[in-house]
Amino acid sequence: MTEALISDGPVARIPAVNLSSPLTMEGNDVADAISGESEGDPTLNNMIAIENLRLWYGEHQALHGITMNIRERYVTAFIGPSGCGKSTLLRCVNRMNDRIADCRIQGRVSLDGMDIYEPKVDVVRLRTRVGMVFQKPNPFPKTIYENIAFAPRIHGVAQKGSEMDELVETCLRRAGLWDEVKDKLQQPGTALSGGQQQRLCIARTIAVRPDVILMDEPCSALDPIATAKIEELIDELKNEFTIVIVTHNMQQAARVSDYTAFFYLGALVEYQDTNTMFTSPHKTQTEDYITGRFG
Ligand SMILES: Nc1ncnc2c1ncn2[C@@H]1O[C@H](COP(=O)(O)OP(=O)(O)OP(=O)(O)O)[C@@H](O)[C@H]1O
Ligand SMILES: [Mg+2]
Repeated sequence: MTEALISDGPVARIPAVNLSSPLTMEGNDVADAISGESEGDPTLNNMIAIENLRLWYGEHQALHGITMNIRERYVTAFIGPSGCGKSTLLRCVNRMNDRIADCRIQGRVSLDGMDIYEPKVDVVRLRTRVGMVFQKPNPFPKTIYENIAFAPRIHGVAQKGSEMDELVETCLRRAGLWDEVKDKLQQPGTALSGGQQQRLCIARTIAVRPDVILMDEPCSALDPIATAKIEELIDELKNEFTIVIVTHNMQQAARVSDYTAFFYLGALVEYQDTNTMFTSPHKTQTEDYITGRFG
């Protein structure tokens, strides 16, 4: 963790989740599937730990005790039929549900060992550590340059002049967009194509150097070529960032993710390495879903 989430002074750090712990805490299938792999391997860390998370919108319970760990610098896909709570769970990881008036949460979500629902947590800072990319590209109504420069300036990552120019170029290059926009940095971000706008949003997200990037169906409004570019980008970015992606596209989950979690009716049904999930899922319900028999 490069930066504390709490703005007013240091706090005791909760130790990160044991490196050899399984992805889920309740010893279900994934424990057997990958715990051996992680034992003694210092490169495997759990960036996000979700413990017995329950969430209600008013009277309606949308999440029913979700417990899972999400590995650092891997891509984890959330799959499941519409309304099963994928977006809700994703939003819990950067406290986007705080904005919903009658939303109530129990349980714990920690980022690199720190409880993000702790009252002292600075939510603005949390959201720079845990960035989010949405289904519909949403560039700021500003220039392409300013879309990247805005947040780093506010958060003091870079200020102006050549330092900022370099940051803007680096982020656009990393998002695979530089060659397409380098001659029109002063044009509005909203004038780009949908796929370019989505890459701009990813460039904007990485500009504040988050640890985690949450993506909620980032390709569902894009054509196959723009989708392929985003998928390539995800593959490259996972070397540096922990990525969680919600997708309805099974092929996409199989292509881009290392781990896959299948949700149904607000519960985590199965969580496996992606290969196992798509070749020999342990639960009939999962198999029915990924083979298109329901959902
Ligand atoms: N802001 C909200 N207020 C009230 N209920 C909500 C709200 N957002 C989601 N819900 C309800 O919570 C449940 C889970 O919704 P969520 O959007 O998380 O599902 P999802 O798996 O992302 O679905 P989709 O695949 O259609 O995007 C649904 O029953 C939904 O109606
Ligand atoms: Mg959703």
